[in-house]
Amino acid sequence: MDKKEIQGKIRKLLAEKKAILLAHYYQREEVQEIADYLGDSLGLSIEAAKTDAAVIVFAGVHFMAESASILAPEKTVLLPRADAGCPLADTITVEQLLAAKGRYPDATVVTYINSSAEIKAHSDICCTSANALKAVQYLPGEGPVLMVPDGNLARYVAKQTKRTIIPWEGFCPIHHHLTAAQVSRAKAAHPECTLAVLALADFVGSTTAMLGYAGEPWVRKLIVGTEMGIRCQLQSRYPEKIFIPASEEMRCEDMKRTTLTDILASLTEMRHVVKVPEAVRMPAKRSLDRMLELS
Ligand code: 13P
Repeated sequence: MDKKEIQGKIRKLLAEKKAILLAHYYQREEVQEIADYLGDSLGLSIEAAKTDAAVIVFAGVHFMAESASILAPEKTVLLPRADAGCPLADTITVEQLLAAKGRYPDATVVTYINSSAEIKAHSDICCTSANALKAVQYLPGEGPVLMVPDGNLARYVAKQTKRTIIPWEGFCPIHHHLTAAQVSRAKAAHPECTLAVLALADFVGSTTAMLGYAGEPWVRKLIVGTEMGIRCQLQSRYPEKIFIPASEEMRCEDMKRTTLTDILASLTEMRHVVKVPEAVRMPAKRSLDRMLELS
């Protein structure tokens, strides 16, 4: 089957099953092309919470489908590739989080959305790269904040607040391994990058925010410090501009696992259903709801 044929079959099945296809900007181009909604982690959560579709097909990674299941328990949430995970989310276990909470009993826990449902359930509020600072500012009092699991995002937020931020030392390998030497001319970077890289950037923001910055009239040529999937959107929205990846190695294999064939099989066989058990979902939803109140 060629690309157009398989895309057509997917769109037909989506309509038949009252389903929507949500996709992250890091997905393959041919998947992005047929998504009902394409966005960053925050936009995707908002969309999952408000859709009236019966089925959500999530072209993303496991924590994204879990978040959709937490926010929309009455929907069937499908993750076409059960093995699409997030190495950053895997850098903390519930046992480790509980031990850290024991070490810092006064700390409020702010959890990046790139985390498991269980971790969210033991947190006070969630955040994405689009609202991490806002989430910290939203917290009452002046006590310390334990930010998990992304240490780079925590240090980026710490630079902008007087509150004591205790970073968990997890990281996204795609962003963390981008070095300052590689991006001496970087102009836009994602806050999962190290502070050394962010110091060189003219703009730091989520993938959606980076797309907005790329549209500014003064931006003609932009070196982009995030996963390469964003290039499809950059180039199609601003064809007259030049976009250069900060590194050709910024490719998330987990995000790229989902092919059109996987999406077709997922919809045909209604697999792989992601469902968060109610005992975890309720406290995790409280943390996600607090985050959604910010936007
Ligand atoms: P945003 O979607 O918030 O830009 O974050 C990108 C990312 O790393 C998702 O895992």
